[in-house]
Amino acid sequence: MSELKLDVVEKITPVTRRLEGQTIILTGAGNGIGRAAVERFAAEGANVVVNDINPAVAEAVAGELTARYGDGCAIPCAGDVTAAGFNAAIVKAAVEQYGELDSIVCNAGVTRDAVLSRMERDSWDQTIALHMTAPMELAKAALDAWRTAKDPYRRRNAVFTTSVSSLGNDGQSSYAAAKAGVLGFMSTFAIECRQRYRLPNVNVNAIGYGPILTRMTQEGKEDIEVGGKTITMGLPEGAHEAIGQRVLLGRMADPCEAANGIYFLVGPDSSFFTGKILWIDGGTFKLLRS
Ligand SMILES: NC(=O)c1ccc[n+]([C@@H]2O[C@H](COP(=O)([O-])OP(=O)(O)OC[C@H]3O[C@@H](n4cnc5c(N)ncnc54)[C@H](O)[C@@H]3O)[C@@H](O)[C@H]2O)c1
Repeated sequence: MSELKLDVVEKITPVTRRLEGQTIILTGAGNGIGRAAVERFAAEGANVVVNDINPAVAEAVAGELTARYGDGCAIPCAGDVTAAGFNAAIVKAAVEQYGELDSIVCNAGVTRDAVLSRMERDSWDQTIALHMTAPMELAKAALDAWRTAKDPYRRRNAVFTTSVSSLGNDGQSSYAAAKAGVLGFMSTFAIECRQRYRLPNVNVNAIGYGPILTRMTQEGKEDIEVGGKTITMGLPEGAHEAIGQRVLLGRMADPCEAANGIYFLVGPDSSFFTGKILWIDGGTFKLLRS
């Protein structure tokens, strides 16, 4: 058996703290996938700007990360990403605190599902605002910071969150539309970084999830308060069994498995990956014979 060449061995040697010195903004970091991702970022040495609409949760998460991974590694930046001017404020906070902004991860989300006959304009508008307009605004604010940064050739990343529902899902027309729309935005932003702004080292990608077990997909309905509104989250009893039958791996994912994909996209191993969708869906929608 031939031995691995030395340079190959060096390249694949596991390194710890692979995000050392990087600054990452993640929206909706208080629960679920975002909570798991910021834990990973801080453990790998990054500075994290912890956004959530719930101030107590944003502060608690930033406090826990600081206690575990060292003073100053996380700051809370609570607020509603759909509020006018708020995305620019998050970027400003990141640059003021850490001097640089390396990555944005647009993750904040809730679902406000209804079949078309019961769709209300208000919930449609809010879904589009949260899953499509807010990511555009955060990207625009990050772009401004990157264009005026000291080193325009530094590697940067923008990650947008989409879903298998973007391909169509019964009862989710607003969410499907927003999650599909953000993909068109992602591709265009990737192109413009290169063509218009001469930022060839900005990698722009989307991460597309299948069923991940969070409060959004838990069995049993739960009313939560988001920005002063009561929203019902969760799926009917028995939904997980049905979901498992549409997933090749036969189960839902843990939020940490979902966060692994985000870590890949902001980390060094995805340096030649841009304008793409990374599907973390366990093989959702593949036909299974019984
Ligand atoms: N869970 C899944 O199966 C699944 C599948 C596909 C895509 N997604 C997407 O993944 C992302 C994360 O979802 P999750 O399952 O971790 O949900 P979650 O409910 O566990 O966490 C979402 C977080 O976003 C925050 N948030 C909501 N509205 C906000 C706003 N306006 N401003 C700032 N923060 C806000 C919430 O407070 C919460 O902490 C969402 O974009 C969601 O659409 C999830």
